[in-house]
Amino acid sequence: MAKEKFYITTPIYYPSDKLHIGHSYCTVATDTMARYKRLRGYDVMFLTGTDEHGQKIERIATAQNMTPKQYTDKVVAGIKELWNLMEISYDRFIRTTDDYHVKAVQKIFKQLYDQGDIYKSAYEGWYCTPCESFFTETQLKDGKCPDCGREVSDASEEAYFLRLTKYQDRLLRFYEEHPDFIKPDSRRNEMINNFLKPGLADLCVSRTSFTWGIPVEFDPGHVTYVWLDALSNYITGLGYHPDGSGPLYKRYWPAALHVIGKDIVRFHTIYWPIILMALGEPLPEQVLGHPWLLFGEDKMSKSKGNVLYADDLAARFGVDAVRYYLLSEIPFAQDGNITYESFISVYNADLANTLGNLVNRSIAMAGKYFGGTVRRPAQTGDGPDAELCAAAAATVEKVAASMDV
Ligand code: ME8
Ligand code: MG
Repeated sequence: MAKEKFYITTPIYYPSDKLHIGHSYCTVATDTMARYKRLRGYDVMFLTGTDEHGQKIERIATAQNMTPKQYTDKVVAGIKELWNLMEISYDRFIRTTDDYHVKAVQKIFKQLYDQGDIYKSAYEGWYCTPCESFFTETQLKDGKCPDCGREVSDASEEAYFLRLTKYQDRLLRFYEEHPDFIKPDSRRNEMINNFLKPGLADLCVSRTSFTWGIPVEFDPGHVTYVWLDALSNYITGLGYHPDGSGPLYKRYWPAALHVIGKDIVRFHTIYWPIILMALGEPLPEQVLGHPWLLFGEDKMSKSKGNVLYADDLAARFGVDAVRYYLLSEIPFAQDGNITYESFISVYNADLANTLGNLVNRSIAMAGKYFGGTVRRPAQTGDGPDAELCAAAAATVEKVAASMDV
C-alpha cells in the first residue's frame, strides 16, 4: 500500500536579521510534527525557507553598503546553521530569490492577469516620502505616518489588484464545509467575523516605490507584492509552475498543514486560498496559527532589547533542553513565556529531577540486579508488570491523539 502523504511547512522567515527564539519555536514545533509523522510511517515532506524581497530588506542592505542579495546570502547562511544546530529535519529549503521560484511567480502573476483576476488600477492613499510607503486613512496615526510620525501626502500610484471580492463567497463556503481548516477555532471566527462577513477589498499586489522584488514581467517598474511572492513558496517549493508542475508537486500538494504564527493568519487563510482558487489548485487541509512566545510579559522585539536566541541557550543547556522547553512551556492554546529563570527551573525540575532521575535509577538498578543487561521477559506477568504494559500501550494512543491537531 502506498504510504499516506504528509506535507508540512513553516513560514518562510524574513532574513532581515538573525532569527530569534520565537522563530525557533515555530520551526521546532513543525519539526517535531514532521518527525512524529515519519515515525508513524507517513511519507513526509517538510519545507522551510526565507522570504527575501521587500523594501525593508532593501533598506537594511543599503545601510550596510551591500546589495540586498549579498545581505540575505549572509543572513540565510546563519539561518541554515541555526537549523542544523537545532536538528531541524527539513527536506527542502526555499529562498524566494531562487531562480525557479522567481520564474514561477512571474508566470503566476501573468496567468492571473490574463484571466482577469489581476487588473490594473490606481492605489489611493497617503504617502510618506521618507518611508516610501503608502498608508490607508485608518493606518495613519493622528494623521501622520505611523512609522516615522512625519507628514504624509495625498497620493495615488498605478498598481495591480487581485480580485478578492470575486472569491469571498466561495471562501466562506469553503470554511463552512471544512470546519477544521483554521486552528484554533478562535482564529477561524476572527477571520469570518472581522474580514469575510464585512466584505473584502481587492488586494494591491504590485509596488513601484522600490525595486527589490520580483519584476512584473510585462510591466517594467512594477514589482510583485511581497506576500504574493512569499505565499507562492508553498507550491513553487515543490516545483509548481502554471505551465506544468514537477513530480514533487503532484505527489505532495495539497499541504496537510501550514504552521504559522497568529500574526499572519489572515494572509494564509484569506489571500492564500483565494490565490489557489484563482489558479484552480486545491487548498491546503489545515492552517495552524500558534501563539506568541513572550519574554516575561512582553512580545520580544529587537528595539526593546528583550530578545533571546536559541543558539545562545543551546550553547549553555544543549539543543535537546531548548527543544524540550519550547514544546513544554508553550502549549498551542495560549501565549508562553520565556525567561532565563523559568528555563532553568524547568530544566532542573523536568529534565534533571524527573527524567534524569528516572534514567539514572533505572540504569543503576539494571546494573545492580541484572548485571547491566535488559532481558526480554519470558511472559508478561500480572500486577505491576501488566499495569506497566497497559500504561505503555495507552501512552501511544494518548500521544497520537495529542499530536493530531
Ligand atoms: O511574517 N513567538 O516572516 P517573519 C512565536 N516572511 N513565534 C514567533 C515570534 C514570537 N515571539 N516571532 C516570530 C513573516 N515568530 C513572513 C512569512 S510565509 C509565506 C511569510 C514566528 O520573519 C511566527 O511563526 O516575520 C511568525 O508567524 C513568524 O515567525 C513570522 O516570521
Ligand atoms: Mg514579522
